[in-house]
Amino acid sequence: MERHVSSLLIGPGTNAGPNHSFITGPTKGGLGAQTAIDLAQGKPDKILLLGRTESKVTPVIEEIMSISPSTEVHFVPLDLASFKSIRNAAAIINNSVSRIGVLINNAGVMAVKDYTLTEDVLSTNLVRTTSGISF
Ligand SMILES: NC(=O)c1ccc[n+]([C@@H]2O[C@H](COP(=O)([O-])OP(=O)(O)OC[C@H]3O[C@@H](n4cnc5c(N)ncnc54)[C@H](OP(=O)(O)O)[C@@H]3O)[C@@H](O)[C@H]2O)c1
Repeated sequence: MERHVSSLLIGPGTNAGPNHSFITGPTKGGLGAQTAIDLAQGKPDKILLLGRTESKVTPVIEEIMSISPSTEVHFVPLDLASFKSIRNAAAIINNSVSRIGVLINNAGVMAVKDYTLTEDVLSTNLVRTTSGISF
């Protein structure tokens, strides 16, 4: 996959404050994961990977650590189809950083075949594609 976020790379020593990046949907092999890996080239202070399936994100964490050992990288559980999960992720973020440098709302699904409802009784497709901006 070609590098596609080079304009977002902010190395240490800038005056932008702590360089903390957040990416939703960083499943290995997907656009979010590649974006996180590209961001790691800029040796950010911290990358938080927000996903619903930790096993799909662990290999991405390992790759980031090999690219930039100085970067703190964490998995934050987040299911955008659940407001409870979104609030939980927001609480974790509030407790771990004072500001967000880069936020990439990547998580989503395309062409959902069936109409289903979330635990909050909302359209699953609508929630997946919009609730990422809620925190
Ligand atoms: N690839 C394309 O051609 C294309 C074109 C237009 C738009 N997009 C959009 O670009 C984004 C990334 O696409 P991609 O091709 O990299 O797809 P992908 O590999 O399937 O990545 C989608 C990510 O969203 C996560 N996700 C789905 N539902 C979620 C939920 N309820 N809560 C939390 N995370 C959820 C998935 O998690 P799991 O792995 O755990 O399911 C996965 O990490 C998506 O939003 C997609 O709609 C892609």
